Amino acid sequence: MRVYFDHNATTPVDPAVVDALATILRDEFGNPSSVHHFGQQAKARLDDARTAVASLINGDPSEVVFTSGGTEADNFALRGVAEALEPTGRRHLIASGIEHEAVLNTLKALARRGWRTTILPVDASGIVVPAELKAALGDDTALVSVMHANNEIGTIQPIADLARLVHEQGALFHTDAVQSVAKVPVNVQTLGVDLLSLSAHKFNGPKGAGALWIKRGTRVAAILTGGRHERNRRAGTENVPGIVGLGVAARLAVRKLQTEGERLGAMRGRLEQAVLERVSGTAINGDRARRVPNTTNISFEGVEAESLLIGLDLEGFAVSTGSACSSGTLEPSHVLRAMGLSAHRTQNSIRISLGAGNTDEQVDLLLDKLPGIVSRLRSLTRVAR
Ligand SMILES: Cc1ncc(COP(=O)(O)O)c(C=O)c1O
Repeated sequence: MRVYFDHNATTPVDPAVVDALATILRDEFGNPSSVHHFGQQAKARLDDARTAVASLINGDPSEVVFTSGGTEADNFALRGVAEALEPTGRRHLIASGIEHEAVLNTLKALARRGWRTTILPVDASGIVVPAELKAALGDDTALVSVMHANNEIGTIQPIADLARLVHEQGALFHTDAVQSVAKVPVNVQTLGVDLLSLSAHKFNGPKGAGALWIKRGTRVAAILTGGRHERNRRAGTENVPGIVGLGVAARLAVRKLQTEGERLGAMRGRLEQAVLERVSGTAINGDRARRVPNTTNISFEGVEAESLLIGLDLEGFAVSTGSACSSGTLEPSHVLRAMGLSAHRTQNSIRISLGAGNTDEQVDLLLDKLPGIVSRLRSLTRVAR
């Protein structure tokens, strides 16, 4: 018996997506840049996927640029805007301290090349305070990047309010919506952003496919140069199978968004309540109201998160200690640290992220095993002392 509770790391590919991918791989190998029938067939597939992605976020298809996933979309937004705005003298970039490494490490790379950078704090519940952003903005600010939903704790940021402040200063606003797309409604018009990243494998699509939505008229330099693909914005023969899979996943997400959100939200509520009642010394990390419905991050006092992860894995449950990139190391979560949690608490928290295949029975199985695993680990820690 294996139960997958790590959907913020990645998700199983939906069978309808697998079928679409298989058709392309087996029967439709054309290059979308070719003029003949084979090429035009592939081009039509790309156009269809572009329409599907645009309607998922209420953008225009011409504003969608396909990428190799969320990391490339984030790099494209930050590096592309930095390069495009460099001649204007705007050489200041801002991001929140709880961003994914795809944003934080790109910001660091730009800082090494002379860009002024500011990392915004978050409050104890994991939310950016608009007044802090206002204080950080300057006449030279080119771009602000604040994620829509956080991958570790699920908190949703007040993007529309933040974007308004940024636009008042004449700067651009990017949001990494990799963890919010398909979990909550994402509408680029009401969010008021200029750029938005998404990634197919976080919502039952294939890995290696994603997109950057770029509002019409926004100045962004291409970071991959070569042919004239994607209207000159991203060179390289398109990953047609992956993009088709992204399009199918986008259409499924639109259809399931509300019912699946309600189902997972109820499941998570029951899980959290039962953990808090049945296991002493537990606490939920992050704002409990402003969150995507599938994610919970829970502290277990006196328990090493890595040991709990392994203990749960031995019983067949897959959870995480935070972002997939930093698990495997004992580095405390930069997200929990930014929220000002104690060193202990940053190291005894696990993330449980629910998804399409999860059932109430699976949650019950977890609730049966979890209290025993935690008390065994706690008694081992006491003996070691
Ligand atoms: C918030 C966030 N941004 C970006 C990424 C990177 O996306 P990808 O795996 O498609 O490169 C992830 C994936 O972990 C993420 O959670």
